[in-house]
Amino acid sequence: MKKMIFLCCILYSNLIVAQNIKSKEREKERFVSGLMKKMTLEEKVGQLWQVAGGFATGPNGSNIGSLKVIAQGRIGSVLNVSGVKNIRKYQEAAMQSRLKIPLVFGMDVIHGFRTGFPIPLGEAASFDLDLIQKGAHWTGTAAAAAGLNWTFAPMVDISWDARWGRVLEGAGEDPFYGSQVAVARVRGLQGDNLSNTNTIMACVKHFAGYGAPIAGKDYNSVDMSMGHFANFYMPPYKAAAEAGAATFMSAFNDFNNIPSTANPFLLRNLLKEKWHFKGFVVSDWGSVGELMNHRVAADKKEAAIKAISAGLDMEMVSNCYFENLVDLVKEKKVSIEVVDDAVQRILYKKFELGLFEDPFRYCDENREKETVESASSRDIARSISERSIVLLKKSDNILPFQKDLKSIALIGPLAKSKKDMCGAWSTANVNNVITLHEAMKNRGVQVNYAEGYDLGNNKIVNYDSTLLAVEKSDVVVVAIGERASESGEMRSKTDISIAAQQQELVSRLIKTGKPVVVLLMCGRPVIFNEVRDQAPNILLTWWLGSEAGPAICNVLWGDYNPSGKLPMTFPRNMGQVPINYQYKSTGRPYPGDWAAKYIDSPVEPAYPFGYGQSYTSFKYSNLKLISDNLGKGVHAKVSVDVTNIGQYDGEEVVQLYIRDEAASVTRPVKELKGFQKINLKKGMTQTVIFDIRDEELGFYDNNINFIVEKGDFTIMVGGDSENLDKMLFSLK
Ligand code: NOJ
Repeated sequence: MKKMIFLCCILYSNLIVAQNIKSKEREKERFVSGLMKKMTLEEKVGQLWQVAGGFATGPNGSNIGSLKVIAQGRIGSVLNVSGVKNIRKYQEAAMQSRLKIPLVFGMDVIHGFRTGFPIPLGEAASFDLDLIQKGAHWTGTAAAAAGLNWTFAPMVDISWDARWGRVLEGAGEDPFYGSQVAVARVRGLQGDNLSNTNTIMACVKHFAGYGAPIAGKDYNSVDMSMGHFANFYMPPYKAAAEAGAATFMSAFNDFNNIPSTANPFLLRNLLKEKWHFKGFVVSDWGSVGELMNHRVAADKKEAAIKAISAGLDMEMVSNCYFENLVDLVKEKKVSIEVVDDAVQRILYKKFELGLFEDPFRYCDENREKETVESASSRDIARSISERSIVLLKKSDNILPFQKDLKSIALIGPLAKSKKDMCGAWSTANVNNVITLHEAMKNRGVQVNYAEGYDLGNNKIVNYDSTLLAVEKSDVVVVAIGERASESGEMRSKTDISIAAQQQELVSRLIKTGKPVVVLLMCGRPVIFNEVRDQAPNILLTWWLGSEAGPAICNVLWGDYNPSGKLPMTFPRNMGQVPINYQYKSTGRPYPGDWAAKYIDSPVEPAYPFGYGQSYTSFKYSNLKLISDNLGKGVHAKVSVDVTNIGQYDGEEVVQLYIRDEAASVTRPVKELKGFQKINLKKGMTQTVIFDIRDEELGFYDNNINFIVEKGDFTIMVGGDSENLDKMLFSLK
C-alpha cells in the first residue's frame, strides 16, 4: 500500500512538472508570436546579427557604432564582452530600442572562466563524465555570473589528425566517447533550466566535420563519404542535439562541396528536420561573408540568400544579412517565412533564458564577485587537473616521490610559465595560475631550478647551471613540450615533434645518472621518440590551467594516483598521421607481408588510444557472457573481473571494444562501446558488467539509417585499445 501511495505521488508530481513545462511552452509561443507581430522587417533582420564587442577572435571584427545600432534594435547578440559592468552597458543600449528586445551575450568560455581548467583534450583524458559535467557546470556558472548567457562550447569535432591544432579543444578521436563527453558538457553548461542564473546556453561546434581538414590545415576543405561521416564524425553532434543543446555553430569548412554555413543538407535536413533541433544555428566568425572566398557566392547578397535558405539563423560578425536581407525579402528572393523561422528560434531562446522578464538578470555584481574565481572553483580545477594527467611511462621506483624527498632539480621554463599553463582559448586570470615551480616550493622541498632551454628558440642554455642544479638534487624533474601559442585555432603544424634540443637536454639529464621524471606539457599528441625510449618516467600533463602546479605535485607525490587515459592516439612519426585506433578492416590486413603497412616504420603508434598507466597495476580475468536476467533491449551482458595487484589504491578505466565480424559494409577493426571508471583498493577485485544492446552492435548505412545486423561480434575488454581480453558473441 505504502509503495502504491509513493508511486502515485511520483506520478502526480511528474504530471505537474509536465503540465508546467507545457504551459511555459505555450506562454513562450504566445509571447514570441505577439512580439513578432509588432516587429518591422528591419527589426527582425536585426535579431539575426551578432557583432563583436571587446576583442576579436577572427579577422575584420569591429563594433564600430554598434551601441548606436543596438539602440535602433538592429542587433540581436554581442560576442566577446564579459563582466557585468560591460554587459550592462550593451544591454542598456538594447533597452533604448523600440521593442526593448534584450541582447544575448556569447563568448568562447571553453575551459573554466577566470579560474582556468585543463584544456578540453586533457580533461577528456580523465574519462570521468561526472567530473567533466561538473567542470562544464562550473565554467557556465562563472561565465553567467560575469554577465554571459551563451558559450561557444563544446567543440565536439572528432579528429584523427594532430597536425590540426584545434584537437586541443575537443574530446579526441573517438565518436562513442566524444558523444558522451559532448552530452556531459552540454548538460553541465545548461543544467535543466536555462532560466537559472547559474546556467548558460551551449553552442555545439563546428557543424560539421571541422576536425577532418585535408592535410590537417585549419579551415581547409573536408571531403568524406556519407557512411564515414555518419559513423565517425556525426555521433557527437547528434548526441549533443539530443541532449538539448540550445545552439549549434556552422563550421568554416565545406562539406560535400558546399560550405557548412550554407549547407541545406546539414543545417535543414539533418539538424533541424531529422534531429528535430529546436534551437538556432549561428555561423562561425565571418563565415557567411567567407562564402565569397569559397567562391560559392559572387557577393554579400548571394551569400545571404544561400546561408539563410540553408538554415543558418544568426550571422556572426560579417554583415551580409544586415545589409541585404530586408531588400531580399522585399524582392521575394528570400521568403519572409524563412526569416521568421530564424527570428523565432532566437527569440525562443531569449525567452527561455528569462531575458524578457529581466534583461539584467545576469548582471548582478555581487554574484559576480562571489562566484568568479571562488575557492571552490579552484578545488574543482585541481581535481579535474589531477585526473587529466596521464602516466605514459614508469620504469623505476622513483614515482610516487617519498614524502621526505629533500631536493629536486626542476628544469625547463614551462615549469615557471603561468601563461603557457593556461593553454589556448583561455579566459584564466594568468596572475593567479600556480606554476609547478611555486607549487613545489609550497611543498617545502628544496627546489633547484634551472632554465635548461630557451622557450623562444628551444636551444639548450646555461648547461653548467643546469648541471649544478642536478648535482645538488636527489631527483630531476624536467618539463618539456609546447608553448600555449603552439596549439589551438590557426595553429596547424607539419611537424608535431617536440623540439630536438629539448629532447637532447633530457638525454643529457638521464646520462647524469640521477633519477629523471619527464613532464610533457602540450595541447595535442606529440612525437618525442628519443625521450620516449630513454626516459624512465613520463607524465603527460597537457596544459592544466590555474591549478596546474598543485595538481602535478599531488600526482608526483602520490596524493593522487594518476588514472588518465589517452583520448587520442600518439603517433611515432609524421608519416603515420592521421592515425586512429578504429581504422577499417582492409582486404590485406596487418600483420602480414602483403598488408596495409609501411616499409620504413612500424604501423603501431607510440601510445594507443585509451592508454595510461597507474602507480598500481590491474589484472583482467574471467571475461564472460551473462545471458540470463537481461533487461529490455539488452542482448547480452559481459562481465570481467578487475583486480588491483599493485601496491597502491587506484582508479582504472575499464574499456569495452567490439568488432563486427562480418557485415554488409566494411567496419572498423574495433570500436569503443563502453567504459567504466572504477576505484579499487590494493588487493581488491571488482566485477565490471557491460550491457550489449543494439546501440553497441549497430552502425549507420550510407543513407544515415542506423541498422543492426545479426551475426558474430568479437567482444574485447581491457585497460587500453591494444591490450584486450577477447571472446565471441553471436547475435541471433
Ligand atoms: C572562430 C572559431 O572557429 C569558433 O570556434 C569560435 O567560437 C569563434 N571564432 C568565435 O570566437
